[in-house]
This record gives sequence, C-alpha cells and structure tokens, in this order.
Amino acid sequence: MKTNFEPFPILETSRLVLRKFTEKDALDLFEIRSNPEMLDFTDGKVDEFIDDTIRFIKIINNGIDKEKWINFAIVYKPNKKLIGSINLWNFDYKLKKAEVGYALNPLYQKRGLMTEALEAVVKYGFEEMGLDLIEIWTDHRNTSSIKLAERVGFKYIKTELEQGYYKKQTFKMLVYQLRRNEV
Ligand SMILES: CC(C)(COP(=O)(O)OP(=O)(O)OC[C@H]1O[C@@H](n2cnc3c(N)ncnc32)[C@H](O)[C@@H]1OP(=O)(O)O)[C@@H](O)C(=O)NCCC(=O)NCCS
Repeated sequence: MKTNFEPFPILETSRLVLRKFTEKDALDLFEIRSNPEMLDFTDGKVDEFIDDTIRFIKIINNGIDKEKWINFAIVYKPNKKLIGSINLWNFDYKLKKAEVGYALNPLYQKRGLMTEALEAVVKYGFEEMGLDLIEIWTDHRNTSSIKLAERVGFKYIKTELEQGYYKKQTFKMLVYQLRRNEV
C-alpha cells in the first residue's frame, strides 16, 4: 500500500480536475466551510474567518506530507472554480484499507459531480495506492451521501454509534464498503 503522494497526483474526469489544495483556494473553500448546511449530518464547526480556512489548508497539506491522508480539491472545468473536496484517510496498513470523505458546494450538488469524483478517487485508491478496501461512514439521515455510496457500488455493512466531538450528540453511522475485487 503506497501512501507517498509526491509528486501529487492530478485526476481528471469529464467535468472535473482533482488536484492539491493551495492557499489560493481559500476563498472558494471558505464559501463551503462557512456554510452551516454542510454540517447538517456531520460533526464539526463552520469556519468563521478566512484565516480559519487558510489554517485548514495548511493542516491538510502538512498531513499529506506526513502520509496521514490525501485530500483533493475538486475543480469544475467550465469555470475553474473550486467546488468541493474529497479525501482518503484513516489508513489501515494491515487491511490495506482507507476511508473516503467528501463535501460539495450546495450550488453544484445534484448534478452527479461527486459521483464522478468518487469514481476517480476509488480507481486511484485501488490502482495507484494498492488499497484492497475503501469505506464510507455516513449518518443514517444523510440521504444524498447514502445514495452516492450506493450509486458507486458501496455495500452496507453495519451501523455504529459515534459520539460527536464538536456537537454534543450521538451520530448513528452507516458503514459502507467497497472491495477492490468488486469493482
Ligand atoms: C454528500 C454530497 C457530496 C452528495 O452530493 P450530490 O450532489 O447529491 O452527489 P452527486 O454530485 O453525485 O449528484 C447525485 C445527484 O445528482 C443527480 N444527477 C444529475 N445528473 C447526474 C449525472 N450525470 N450522474 C449522476 N447523477 C446525476 C442524481 O440523480 C443524484 O440525485 P439524487 O440524490 O436526488 O438521486 C453532498 O450532499 C454534500 O456535500 N453534503 C454535505 C457534506 C456531507 O454530508 N458529506 C458526507 C459525509 S459522509
């Protein structure tokens, strides 16, 4: 399993380019991370200031260098705008497993764009990183995320309860998996 991301991969789909975040993405990413709607079904807190987003970009790129995760900026080709993010993290070297997480600017949802991004990242995970298993953990009320996971071929495995860190609530999480030999 390969978790060295130097040089950083660039993934291209028909409508998207997936590439590394830079500080120049801060404004577009702030548009997403300051929107409370993005956190309806996930634990977390919104960015209040652009500096919060700049700090976040530094943290994710630092984590990539330390092989903790890989986090792609999703760029919409027609207007070159950064419209979302998708990452592989929680690496398990023994099981050759990673978890995938994603978020898309609400203005760009319901067009199949994250389906395109997720398919590209799944292919990258299996073919380039040598993963055997990719997992999605999603809140049971997060219909869009559940439909996305199922559309790309992930299968429901189990339900787990997770205690929020930022939000004082328990999340009922559905765990979905996709194996390399099922694609
Ligand atoms: C989860 C999330 C990324 C899903 O976004 P999305 O826009 O529903 O996903 P897609 O881009 O793949 O679009 C799929 C939708 O577009 C429709 N669509 C339109 N054109 C399409 C096309 N060419 N191909 C596929 N689907 C298309 C599909 O029918 C589907 O709609 P439906 O869910 O009503 O069936 C988004 O809801 C989000 O960012 N949520 C907030 C963050 C979050 O909760 N993340 C998940 C944490 S686990």
